[in-house]
Amino acid sequence: ETIQPTQIFYHPGAVTREERRALLRQSGGTLWFTGLSGSGKSTLAVALEQVLIQRGHAAYVLDGDNIRFGLNAGPKILMESRGYSEEQARRFGLGFSAADREENIRRIGEVARLFADAGVFALTSFISPYRKDRDAVRRIHEQNKGGPLPFIEIYVSTPLSWCEERDPKGLYQQARAAVAAGRGMGFTGIDDPYEPPLHPELTYDASRQSVEEGVAMILNYLHERGLLD
Ligand code: PPS
Repeated sequence: ETIQPTQIFYHPGAVTREERRALLRQSGGTLWFTGLSGSGKSTLAVALEQVLIQRGHAAYVLDGDNIRFGLNAGPKILMESRGYSEEQARRFGLGFSAADREENIRRIGEVARLFADAGVFALTSFISPYRKDRDAVRRIHEQNKGGPLPFIEIYVSTPLSWCEERDPKGLYQQARAAVAAGRGMGFTGIDDPYEPPLHPELTYDASRQSVEEGVAMILNYLHERGLLD
């Protein structure tokens, strides 16, 4: 199948970044939470979003579980709630293979970049297990056409043993059972890889730090970088 050539030209807007900054009293940016399932990424992102909003800042959480019901839904959801044909659902739906996780993160990375460009804080909470995929998202922020955008990688380093003990959705138990039965499930941390960040801006471990401590650490960082007025 040939790929049709396209001619696309970037349109700069008429609103400057300074005008947006003055309106929102912040520059915005992406706070990229990465870590194992059940590590506390979403809890921390949601708590931070609440504090930012209470203080009058524009912030929005993009969360793996929620996005996988919509933008990055799997084939079954696309067929059942969006009326896609089986062929379309197979083509556009995302699961948990390496290629699908890559596409999941690519789409979210682009969406987060748009939020950041609009001056909002995008708080993304995805396992995002592959280093190259996270680095690609960092790159699109740095190389944003309207000028570089802040990309802050927050490694939620909570150990596997803690995540597995909590197992809020019972998925670790399922994954262990699947491995024991010789089937496997491709579950991150059990029979699928997780590549920790090499140079995260911040690290948070839910087994050692409270959510309040995590939120305070991130707010402090944002202030120090001059990203909050
Ligand atoms: S990824 O790897 O970044 O594309 O994953 P993400 O979009 O964040 O989705 C992770 C949530 O999906 C559930 N789930 C799985 N996780 C890992 N591996 C497999 N095979 C899998 N199947 C389903 C799991 O509940 C994750 O939830 P969180 O919120 O991370 O605990």
